[in-house]
Amino acid sequence: MSSYFRTKSIDCLLDETKEKGHILKKVLGPLDVTMAGIGAIIGAGIFAMVGEAAAGAASGYPAGPSLMISFVLTSIACGFAALCYAEFAAMVPVSGSAYTYSYATMGELMAWIIGWDLIIEYAIGNVAVAISWAGYFNDFLVSTFGLDVPIWLRMDYRSFVHHGFSLAEVPHIFGVPVVVNLLAVSVTALLTVFLIRGVKESARLNDIMVGIKLLVLALFVIVGFHYFRPENWVPFAPSGFTGIQKGAAMIFFAYIGFDAVSTVAEETKNPKRDMPIGILGSLGICTVIYVLVTAALTGMMPMGELKHKIGEPLVAALLYNNASAWLVSLVAFGAVVATTAVMLVYQMGQPRILFSMSRDGLLPQCFAKVHPRFGTPHVGTILTGLFVGGLSAFCSIDEMANLCNIGTLFAFLVVCGGVIILRIKDPDRPRPFRVPCGLLFPILGVLSCLFLMFGLQDITWLGFGVWLVIGLIIYFSYGKKNSRLNACRQ
Ligand code: ALA
Repeated sequence: MSSYFRTKSIDCLLDETKEKGHILKKVLGPLDVTMAGIGAIIGAGIFAMVGEAAAGAASGYPAGPSLMISFVLTSIACGFAALCYAEFAAMVPVSGSAYTYSYATMGELMAWIIGWDLIIEYAIGNVAVAISWAGYFNDFLVSTFGLDVPIWLRMDYRSFVHHGFSLAEVPHIFGVPVVVNLLAVSVTALLTVFLIRGVKESARLNDIMVGIKLLVLALFVIVGFHYFRPENWVPFAPSGFTGIQKGAAMIFFAYIGFDAVSTVAEETKNPKRDMPIGILGSLGICTVIYVLVTAALTGMMPMGELKHKIGEPLVAALLYNNASAWLVSLVAFGAVVATTAVMLVYQMGQPRILFSMSRDGLLPQCFAKVHPRFGTPHVGTILTGLFVGGLSAFCSIDEMANLCNIGTLFAFLVVCGGVIILRIKDPDRPRPFRVPCGLLFPILGVLSCLFLMFGLQDITWLGFGVWLVIGLIIYFSYGKKNSRLNACRQ
């Protein structure tokens, strides 16, 4: 039994990053890291889900302008976790994020569970973003060039049927109707090829994309305040605190991503300084942007109007105010760029978690191989691309986003718990960055994650449970036998 709870010492973790053949290039600075955070955070959440949360078309509880408060509340909850991530990432600047931290604090079994769980956050989350990308990309093509990709090439089968489209009008192969989200598969394939070529080039592309999406959102805010009508802010909170609370749960997805920064810790030049700056900085900047965009959006049009146009709320608000066509195209373009940037960081993070698990012997060695020329974990990158691309062809965005939420909350919870454990077990270890106020914030982090997790649907819990069982089967049949823990001096 005790082997399941044996931890890997932090010194051992740090030693391993220096092993020949397993060394990742250290090329990222604090700005790269912050940009990676913003790149991972701002995406489908603010460009799409903000509409449903504000107008409440499906939930029946529109948050309206009070969604600004929801954004602040969720940001505070994420802030507790962000502080804990920053403490760990500065202390254990090793590739692998929450997986590595839990290995150091809670033992191998928990580390495996978290590593397996992170696939839900990174890869499954990316499936949702890829699907969303496909929708926006088509909107951009339509609004700019008048080109409309056939619906059966940009939607999954069940959504197609659910939205009442006719299967009789799609091509059939051997009698089977072809409904495949080819747009989502294509973007995944392109990013995979790019990431194999190297993290520095990818970080540079990310910087450009972050710049574009910040400019587009800033432009939207300026235009939004130009069209602002005070009567649209009355009532300010149409569903009272319930609307604020449901809005907060829904837009949690918009904040996911700041933790992805910690997966590139091993590739930063000065992790002790760069990790806290990157994680907390990106979360803070995004909170300000989200509140401003929500203020502009809800001031531009009545929520009753927005209710019918939740797919592309920012574009809908511009059209409602008869804004210029170029502005509409630009915002659609910004949404495409934003979701591309989110995908890039997640596709970059996932192989690095697989890399760490493989280096520990819990997954086959091929995942820990570094490409001889590009210095990247190419095997994991390719497999991640196949996994994300394959699922995005056939799955719906709702189920993928919900699974991503529960997996992420679980990882946040474990990281907050890990900080508490390590403060007790190893209080004297130097902590270049320390969560302030003793154990208060980590404890509040654990509680807020639990609160949000219990707000998720039963079917999401079921999916999460099935995923964890599959993970445990793999651990007991492979990982446990091949673990390198014994070779590591405790
Ligand atoms: N936070 C990311 C997004 O909104 C997942 O797309």
